[in-house]
Amino acid sequence: MTASPSGHLVLIGMMGAGKTTVGARCAALLDRPFVDVDDIVEAVTGRTVREIFATDGEAAFRALEAEALRDACAAPEPSVIAAGGGAMQDPVNRRAVEQAGTVVWLRAEPDELARRVTADGVAERPMLAGTDAAPSIERLLAVRTAGYEGLADVVVDTDGRDVDAVAAEVARAVAA
Ligand code: S3P
Repeated sequence: MTASPSGHLVLIGMMGAGKTTVGARCAALLDRPFVDVDDIVEAVTGRTVREIFATDGEAAFRALEAEALRDACAAPEPSVIAAGGGAMQDPVNRRAVEQAGTVVWLRAEPDELARRVTADGVAERPMLAGTDAAPSIERLLAVRTAGYEGLADVVVDTDGRDVDAVAAEVARAVAA
């Protein structure tokens, strides 16, 4: 895989990795539009990701997510795209991302991811609903890590780092 400065910047990684916050900051630094795939799904359906999971189930969400991701990757204007944490399990999504530009994996330890997605002791993502966040994240990471690794042109560690520092490192990777 070769970094392609003229293409999109696609951020991948687990929930809590900072794809949305870092992505928005990077987009400002690079003067590009920011596209969050979860936001597209919500805009298109008029429902929240949580509602879609609760009403129609994960498979229905994954179909909507795939469509939104592929549309984002196909857009001509170089953008910063935050892909959903589970989207890289789908081989068609993986190919779309691979061809889209520079792929950056925002990495963090399971405990840190769990802390970031937990508010008042409750895990805030549908994939973690009703579970203990840290072990659930560890289980998901065991399944997903090879996929993130295989796609990433650049890996950026985010543990204990603030959004500005991570965003600056990611933006440098695209400019390189
Ligand atoms: C998911 C991550 C979420 C969202 C959905 C499923 C996952 O996005 O797409 O809740 O399977 O990891 P973020 O990675 O932006 O939190």
